[in-house]
Amino acid sequence: QSARKDGYKHFMLKEIFEQPRVVKDCLAGRVDWQKQEAVLPELSAMPVPKRLHIVACGTSFNAGMWAQHLFESWAHIPVSVEIASEFRYRDVILNEGDVVLVISQSGETADTLAALRIAKEQGVPVVGLCNVIGSSIARESDVTVYTQAGPEISVASTKAMCSQMAVLLLMGLAWADRKGLLDDVLRREIFGGLRKLPDLLEAELPRIREEAKRLAREYSTAQSFFFLGRGVGYPLAMEGALKLKEISYIHAEGYAAGEMKHGPIALIDPKFPTFAIALNDKFFAKVKSNLEEVQARAGDVIALTNPNSDLSVKHKWVLPDCVYPLSSFLVLPALQLFSYESADYLGKDVDQPRNLAKSVTVE
Ligand code: G6P
Repeated sequence: QSARKDGYKHFMLKEIFEQPRVVKDCLAGRVDWQKQEAVLPELSAMPVPKRLHIVACGTSFNAGMWAQHLFESWAHIPVSVEIASEFRYRDVILNEGDVVLVISQSGETADTLAALRIAKEQGVPVVGLCNVIGSSIARESDVTVYTQAGPEISVASTKAMCSQMAVLLLMGLAWADRKGLLDDVLRREIFGGLRKLPDLLEAELPRIREEAKRLAREYSTAQSFFFLGRGVGYPLAMEGALKLKEISYIHAEGYAAGEMKHGPIALIDPKFPTFAIALNDKFFAKVKSNLEEVQARAGDVIALTNPNSDLSVKHKWVLPDCVYPLSSFLVLPALQLFSYESADYLGKDVDQPRNLAKSVTVE
């Protein structure tokens, strides 16, 4: 066991630290660096979707929510993102030209597999994004794209989400390119950033872990947390809350920051901290004003942000500048490590949290 953990205390920690390698492997053979193009031969046989229905559970669902922004803004594809257990029991309208994209690390999640079968019965093509080779979803999808993240042992998913985001990003770029929508500035910015991303992640992870450890200790007595973000920061906030619930058993809610005023803000008091994603991107000003509303109610705020951001909160957790949306690949491990360090400090069974299974193969 300990050998396979390569000296790490838990599989979860090892898998978080594998993410630079995971990004590298995801990109390997899938990017033409010369032409600055995403190369996904799996998808080239099918037309660009007229409409995309993303269906998944848990962390994979959060990856889908994240990718929605890229498919819409880069490839102009209308996207809905659905929880598989809801999708399968609704009378979802699927039209010609639609594509269902199921995302599943294990490829065995019962609800996601059921959603796939419903789409196929209706004659709608299914793209499966899976990690486990030869899994049910991988076998039954019309087109299977593998995340190539390697086996994930920890029940709480970490590197799988990173790999899903990397491949989804490439899908967005590939579809945008096929529609002639990728302009030169964006192309240069994204491919330039992607090329540097594995090394940037590798260099930053130890620093991110130190800060996560410090904050986890400081907040170890908190009973509840809000995780807030907007845009791509919203699904990341949901993932941050999910991780904290899963392994530390601390109550956490992931919320769209702009929705706080419609109810949840009533819960804010000095003992209910807020963890915010407030990067220097197009959402910054709006998130900042939402955090001012929280602070006006004596709420304590930790914010993941960038150097020189104009933000006044109790804890500024500064990540290096990184182009949108690649900055998400730094936010993700920060959230994962905050949960990891909280759970470990509280003495929880990090790799085998109570009541949870790695793969939920029954309904
Ligand atoms: C379980 C796991 C989660 C995972 C979810 C979906 O609940 O504990 O970590 O995100 O299933 O799994 P999948 O294999 O379909 O991505």
